[in-house]
Amino acid sequence: MKKLQIGLQNHTRAILRICGVLLAVCAVSSAVYAETESAGPGIYSTALINVTARDAIDLSGPWHYIVDPQKIGILRGDRRRTAVFEDVSEPDGPTDFLEYNFDFAPVMAIPGDWNGRDSTLTWFDGLVWFRRVVELEEPQSQRRFLHFGAANYKALVYVNGKKVGEHEGGFTPFAFDVTRQLKKGRNSIVVGVDSTHDNDSLPTPITDWKNYGGLTRPVHLVSVPDTYVHDYFLRLESGNRLMASVRLGGQKVANQEVLVEIPKLDFTLRGTSDETGVAALEADIPSGLKRWSPDSPHLYDVSLSVAGDEVSDRIGFRTIAVNGSAILINDKPVFLRGISLHEETLGDPPSRAFDEDSARALLSIAKNDLNANFVRLAHYPHAEVMTKLADEMGLLVWSEIPVYWDIDFENPETLALTKRMQRENIIRDRNRASIIFWSVANETPQTDERLAFLDKVINDARKLDGTRLMTAALHNIRSKGGVSVVDDPLAELIDVVAVNTYRGWYGNSPLKKVPDSEWSNPSGKPFLFSEFGAGAKYGFRDPGLEKFSEDFQVEYYRVTLAMVKKVPGLSGLSPWILKDFHSPRRMHANYQDYWNRKGLISPKGDKKAAFFVLRDWYTELDSQGGKKN
Ligand code: GCU
Repeated sequence: MKKLQIGLQNHTRAILRICGVLLAVCAVSSAVYAETESAGPGIYSTALINVTARDAIDLSGPWHYIVDPQKIGILRGDRRRTAVFEDVSEPDGPTDFLEYNFDFAPVMAIPGDWNGRDSTLTWFDGLVWFRRVVELEEPQSQRRFLHFGAANYKALVYVNGKKVGEHEGGFTPFAFDVTRQLKKGRNSIVVGVDSTHDNDSLPTPITDWKNYGGLTRPVHLVSVPDTYVHDYFLRLESGNRLMASVRLGGQKVANQEVLVEIPKLDFTLRGTSDETGVAALEADIPSGLKRWSPDSPHLYDVSLSVAGDEVSDRIGFRTIAVNGSAILINDKPVFLRGISLHEETLGDPPSRAFDEDSARALLSIAKNDLNANFVRLAHYPHAEVMTKLADEMGLLVWSEIPVYWDIDFENPETLALTKRMQRENIIRDRNRASIIFWSVANETPQTDERLAFLDKVINDARKLDGTRLMTAALHNIRSKGGVSVVDDPLAELIDVVAVNTYRGWYGNSPLKKVPDSEWSNPSGKPFLFSEFGAGAKYGFRDPGLEKFSEDFQVEYYRVTLAMVKKVPGLSGLSPWILKDFHSPRRMHANYQDYWNRKGLISPKGDKKAAFFVLRDWYTELDSQGGKKN
């Protein structure tokens, strides 16, 4: 079974292609939905958004789980005794017997990664079955979706023994309409999560981060009326217009009256959905609207409604643009004082399970202690709570999909998977004012196949959201006459050129040479350092500057910032990385112990000496009104 088809057979795909063409022809207004896979008006493969603002049962808490090392729980032939997804407790006949039973199985707190929840699974890669029972009074007349914030990596979902769908991709939301499968009384929800990656998955198995498996984000049972607000996209465009695209889901989606209200501004947009269920509304920006920016992160309560359904959200409004090598927020140039981070909580062992507290803990260190105004959320879409908090706290965000190192750029299925993962990410988060960049790749080889692949991915993103800047983290920069020339052909396709560089750490250039490094960015586009960094084990001090000492990391930052300050037209940086993080590639028992030690804080949050080198420069920049001289 190579690729998971989300309940879609080939003939449906044919219909899809026809619909796709029809969609594009009919209504320019629904351009932001042009590329979305839809099995016809009202039925979409991307999940309804903002489920925590809807009528939903949060299924967080203990789930029984069964580890299935040989993946035999997936039915083969008639071997019912191991058909875990059926979740029966009594065998068929007197001679029959079961070789699984969830009621006797251990429980695990969901959301969470099994690596941190069960010490026997610390490095387990494979299939684990999860079961949750939901008691329902009366199956409501409403439509019901089973919504997953994310499951790493492949998810097989069953309700009362019936398969309702599958999903591939470990960091984006998905949902299935389970209205017909649910019944009064006991309902069994079984999810098989397979964390295994292969050469045409995204990413491949080779990553410098730990592959946390499981139901890593919240699961909700969401009730919506027959016609409901599926997703929406509010933004400022062409300078003075507030635009709203609202897509309805369910039965009667055409010719429905749709309202978008911002009570604080006494502002209402009213319109009618087209035959595809999309209402495209716009008006001049209401007077008195305060624009969102990192220094003043104004958010407005917004409600979006159609007869019978209403969804509320908190949204900030701002514009983002480039002017030559400058990045403009609300038409003002901004210098990105950034830091990169993985989605891994403080603590040892850490976890992938992010709630508001764990997200706020990390983002506060970045914003309040380091004086950053920008975070690169690497290398995959982080939890929704993270981007919503960045909106609230006033942090600009780089959002990324895991096209990481070398993936199968020639495989059309990997391309389809990448586009779908990006679509799921953009549709979930495009109302977040904090997000300014969609990143499509990190350190990928400069091949023609890669360029053609990413060109399609970038075009897809631009159709879904033409208001944000496209970027990618480049590396392998060519040196010409001692000058590093950023002439990767991908730079032509993106809006902001970003480079990862590890001079003085990897390779043999001595630290003292780093400040003399010169950079040229022929594209003339805004230029960032998306990564640089050096490893240091918290508490290991050596004035002799041995690598992995805090002293080496301090010196590394001192010389690298000296280089950074000299780069003409630089628009920002996001050093690697805020916190030490788990990686299977870091095996030095004394210095690393499976931690990538390039953090400026330890796993528990202790600040290393280099933290203050960066903090001091950011504070100086901030006091200069954010401009880098
Ligand atoms: C790479 C990569 C990171 C990795 C880092 C490192 O640039 O993008 O994922 O962790 O280098 O080597 O520490």
